[in-house]
Amino acid sequence: MNKRDILLKSSIVGLLFAFAMFFLWPDNPTALGDILSENPDAGFSLNKSCPPGFKLNGENECISQNLYLQYDSPNNKGLGGLQTGLPELREGFSPQEIDLGRLLFFDPVLSGNGTMSCATCHQPDKGFSDGMATGIGNGDLKLTRATPTLWNVGYLRKLFWDGRSDSLEQQIEGPLFAKEEMNNTPENLLKTINEIETYKILFAETFPQKDNPEIELDEIYTAITAFQSSLISLNSKYDKYAHGYHNALSSKEKEGMNIFRSFVARCAECHTPPLFTNQEFAIIGSPEPEGLPLDPGAQIPKNDSTLRGAFKVPSLRNIEKTAPYMHSGNFGTLRETVEFYTKGRGHAVPKGENLLIHWHIWEPDLSDYELDRLVDFLKTLTDESFTPKIPEKVPSGLKPSV
Ligand code: HEC
Ligand code: HEC
Repeated sequence: MNKRDILLKSSIVGLLFAFAMFFLWPDNPTALGDILSENPDAGFSLNKSCPPGFKLNGENECISQNLYLQYDSPNNKGLGGLQTGLPELREGFSPQEIDLGRLLFFDPVLSGNGTMSCATCHQPDKGFSDGMATGIGNGDLKLTRATPTLWNVGYLRKLFWDGRSDSLEQQIEGPLFAKEEMNNTPENLLKTINEIETYKILFAETFPQKDNPEIELDEIYTAITAFQSSLISLNSKYDKYAHGYHNALSSKEKEGMNIFRSFVARCAECHTPPLFTNQEFAIIGSPEPEGLPLDPGAQIPKNDSTLRGAFKVPSLRNIEKTAPYMHSGNFGTLRETVEFYTKGRGHAVPKGENLLIHWHIWEPDLSDYELDRLVDFLKTLTDESFTPKIPEKVPSGLKPSV
């Protein structure tokens, strides 16, 4: 076919198409069409591809791709072998769910007075924490615990320092509706979000099977869960080493890793690779700031006095980014934090308390040199290559807050 033929053929096809559209285009646009045409700010479109590190399958689901998938499941618990599989990830969310969740995560419209988003406390440039010992909530109220990172949170089976929540969907109700945090109510949240036409369009696109045009709480929770589960950090220097690239760590970092995994320090028994948590509770007797009472931790939700002072073993991924440390944010630096472990079993437990300190917490008597190497090693767990994009604007028109 020469150029002229191609041109001729394509203009005939084009004409036929225009002709067909003229007759086929519905003159009664759907409700969604109405919204689209009236909506002054239709400048939002949801991503149709998965975030980096995920692959789209035939069902429009994002599935995580990482090198740990080649190893056995972690059920055959060894002593934290480097080439061990990961626990199951909350995955299979659609690209649209994840991207809508991203907008919601940064949108202060989720809070009672429109000033606070999830990202106000979980800031991407601070390892999804806030750089403070304990969070600051609604009305400048000081919260009692440190803001945890959200990296790899999709792998966790228990949420909050005291493990009181079993799923991300359930967890969200905490910050949204707590007076001290975002101080919203389910009724007010649904009312405000349903008044924002852009959200109505985006929710309709994300949940196409729904027949009710109203946005529902479950849909909000699903989207934010999808976004949080996409925050994966598994490409650190340490990971390269674990997958067999021996030069990824310097000799000092390797020394630190060996101390971390040793029977003397015992760090890896609780902070088990590859997530650097075994997801268990442990009583380690970390101190509260001067003058504050002991935080009972998991004792309260479990209603079990043997768990007094127990906390969920936190992951150490991106730990370099999330100072201050421990549930109370009592330690400003990693050096102080690792030193805690060598100052003597139970040394920081308040008088009169009889905590059942975990048997792996003892007196490893680590030297200054060894503590420095531990810190070197902990810094090899940093990887923020999949940091999501902070939206420049959010559908409420409020300023995306971080
Ligand atoms: C005012 C600050 C603040 C805001 C706003 C906030 N969080 Fe948090 N978040 C915290 C603190 C503090 C904790 C730990 C509380 C505890 O363990 O008792 C936490 C814990 C979490 C956890 C548990 C993580 C883990 O490892 O156990 C998740 C998940 C989470 N927040 C997600 C969210 C989402 C989603 C939003 C928005 C709907 C949000 N947060 C809003 C401060 C905040
Ligand atoms: C018995 C289990 C256990 C052992 C062994 C253990 N940890 Fe921990 N680690 C925990 C728990 C539980 C917490 C949280 C305690 C709290 O907040 O009060 C924690 C907290 C931390 C934190 C602060 C995390 C954060 O997000 O604030 C660091 C860093 C840390 N551990 C490093 C180490 C190192 C290094 C070793 C070895 C010297 C070690 N841990 C040994 C259970 C353990």
